[in-house]
Amino acid sequence: MRLGADYYPEHWEKSRWQIDLELMHEAGIRVVRIGEFDWSLFEPREGDYQFAWMDEILDFMEKHSMKVVLGTPSATPPKWMTDKYGDEIYQADIHGNSKIFGTRKHYCFNSDVYREQNRILVEKIASRYGKHPAVEDWQIDNELGWANTTRCYCSKCRSKFQKYLEKKFGTIDRLNEVYGTVFWSQTYNSFDEVIIPQAGACYDTCHDTQGQNPGLLLDFDRFCSDSVISFMKEQADIIRRYSDRPITTNMLDAAVNSGTGIDYFKMSKELDFVTWDNYIEFQWGKAKDETVSRDHALLRSYKHQPFWVMEQQSGACGWSKMGPTPTPGKLRLWTYQAVANGADTVVYFRWRACPFGTEEYWHGILGHDGKPNRRLQEIAQVGAEMEKLSKVYGPLMPKAKVAILKSFDSEWSHAIHKHVENFHYDTLLLDYYRAFYKMGIPVEFAAPQEDLQSYELVLAPALLMVSDEQKKNLEKYVKQGGRLLLTFRSGVKTMENAMLTESVPGSFAEIAGIEIHDYDPLLEKQTTVSGVFGAGTADLWCDIITPGTAETLGVYTSDFYAGTPCFTVNAYGKGSVYYLGCDLDETAMERLARYLCGKTGIPVEAYAIDGVEIVPATDGKQEALFILNHNAYPVFVPLKKTYTEMISGCEVSRAAELKAYDVVILKQQNA
Ligand code: GAL
Repeated sequence: MRLGADYYPEHWEKSRWQIDLELMHEAGIRVVRIGEFDWSLFEPREGDYQFAWMDEILDFMEKHSMKVVLGTPSATPPKWMTDKYGDEIYQADIHGNSKIFGTRKHYCFNSDVYREQNRILVEKIASRYGKHPAVEDWQIDNELGWANTTRCYCSKCRSKFQKYLEKKFGTIDRLNEVYGTVFWSQTYNSFDEVIIPQAGACYDTCHDTQGQNPGLLLDFDRFCSDSVISFMKEQADIIRRYSDRPITTNMLDAAVNSGTGIDYFKMSKELDFVTWDNYIEFQWGKAKDETVSRDHALLRSYKHQPFWVMEQQSGACGWSKMGPTPTPGKLRLWTYQAVANGADTVVYFRWRACPFGTEEYWHGILGHDGKPNRRLQEIAQVGAEMEKLSKVYGPLMPKAKVAILKSFDSEWSHAIHKHVENFHYDTLLLDYYRAFYKMGIPVEFAAPQEDLQSYELVLAPALLMVSDEQKKNLEKYVKQGGRLLLTFRSGVKTMENAMLTESVPGSFAEIAGIEIHDYDPLLEKQTTVSGVFGAGTADLWCDIITPGTAETLGVYTSDFYAGTPCFTVNAYGKGSVYYLGCDLDETAMERLARYLCGKTGIPVEAYAIDGVEIVPATDGKQEALFILNHNAYPVFVPLKKTYTEMISGCEVSRAAELKAYDVVILKQQNA
């Protein structure tokens, strides 16, 4: 457990470096990330490679015992390159318009020219610095897919997409059959006729993809995600030839990524460890504590191992406008929230606010004047605490017995055709996460094909489509004694985004022991329900369930389907399959989570207190119970056992007292 800072020494006079490093060391900052936007310093003119400046930085870091994450600068193709190669390297937007120079991330992941230019530079950087003693890790590019850059609609992508489809389908007849192009006379005669889903191909050009073929749209999403991953892997492969230092890239939070569309499970396989960028209160809004907790949970789930925060907000930030400065205590709280949820290293963005460029308002630990301030003081306190805790604990991970399945195929399909106005897959998953979060029960995420045997309970909200392998995996999990919860819109589609013709819930009808012949997508109305989760309401969707072998645990209490089941359970093998045909309001959802814990033997120990996050974690040998107060007021959290508080060393029994934004880390005595 340690701290770091995103540092841009090239933005400052060299005479300042010494002061910066001294301040960093005093604050417990042990690693810096550098270099991820510096293409024009590495190669100011084509073929004119300059390394002396980076040699000097890295040697300086080594001399001052600072570890470095070195970035590859592929997010920022320089001006000479865009001038020379233009559309050969630019991305095109959904309207087919080419990007131009002026910001970053304007390159196309499928540009042969860009990839070649980038390979040459990455190889030079990796061969020169691969074994440099200061270089501890590598970061590839920066926030791949950020700001809608995953999907490019240029002619280079179109022809690569056609080849991708040819490889997948073999013959054009097969593609026509699978996509159902007979609908609206969309039959293709050859792969080179296949379109890229630009806005112009839409029924209504105001609504991005409206009216287009859903199979083609989903394959385009997969193709774009694969293109980004292959661009990243190409760099990782080069680096690995010269360096044995671990490789990562910095990912985006779930809400942003659900728009950008990269399959992070797939991407993570190519990385040694994963990291993400955590901005909580800024120009674009404020994230709730459970949302941030869910993002950390996703990160620890992509590889099921500790992760890093590569950019942790450390000041007031925004581009054209700013969000609030972090209230005293929040930097510490946010850092511990990351650590409690499995972060091994937390790197603050950025060390010092930059006086120029797009991000001139974006505050780091230090302001523009570079003087020590209260934020640095707070981080120094955390730095000292981390050193103390690191003597006791190795990297901590929450102990999760519950998993939520996250399927990128389903996410993208839901985004293409969302079923009902207010439905968002990402939000539904968060609703389930929140219900357990409030009880202090850690949840992990898993891909539907992963081994699930270690979980007592697996939730698969709106898992629209499963491959044969995924279906068998879920069946095996239940047969061997697992408990699986399915919901409305589970198993109703093919992997190619077409509707299954079996009765709903299609792929899962047998294991769920039900059939559904009618359903009610709710438009501006609410349906009431009652069951083992008490009385509640549904706002999105109601499946009208006909139980077969399943037993009823809840019913609708209004509308023409009042009295019919909304919630069922079916015994299958040694396990059971729950099916919830509707969404639930927050309170009913919490009661459902509590009910499921009771049925699966997961102890509910924590007291739900608004704004208090409780995370039981372990490093494999020792336990740590984190209590985090996200409230602006003090709280008392009742305790059943006697603990030692690991930061202060004090004994705590009966109740833990936390000031506003405070944190305690408890270790049970005599355990
Ligand atoms: C992140 C990005 C950083 C910096 C920061 C502040 O999204 O990775 O490079 O731009 O935001 O805008």
